[in-house]
Amino acid sequence: MSLIKWIEFPSLGDERGNLVALEGLKNIPFEIKRVYYLLDMQANVPRGFHAHKEIVQVAICVKGSCDILMDNGQDKEIVTLDSPSKGLLIDVMQWHEMSNFSQDCVLLVLASEHYDETDYIRDYPRFFQEVNNENTSTQ
Ligand code: TYD
Repeated sequence: MSLIKWIEFPSLGDERGNLVALEGLKNIPFEIKRVYYLLDMQANVPRGFHAHKEIVQVAICVKGSCDILMDNGQDKEIVTLDSPSKGLLIDVMQWHEMSNFSQDCVLLVLASEHYDETDYIRDYPRFFQEVNNENTSTQ
């Protein structure tokens, strides 16, 4: 699984405006059980700082822009989300940190499961250990 996986959504817009459609098990690679959105963030107050054990998500910046650092315990990369027609897949065991929010940023997130705090790993050393133990046991 590559660290950065973008999903492109076709724009169905016309002269009346833009329209993007998201469908579970079609252009979103799981059944969508939860949708949430982040807005009114402060540019200098990052958030996220966790990984999920089983929940898979797709993040789409439907307005404005923000950066997201993705980290699989081996590689790290910062990408910018700035398009409503492009989603970033946040797979299991991918540590992520969102930052540098534009004032108008609205970040929409689709999730494969209902909210479950027990699915979160919020402690970086624990994440690093779990993901690297997994990596060595599958080699
Ligand atoms: P949190 O996951 O810490 O936000 P972020 O990762 O963006 O920093 O969530 C903030 C609070 O909202 C926390 O108390 C959990 C709650 N929450 C829900 O109740 N349902 C949800 O779907 C999400 C994502 C968070």
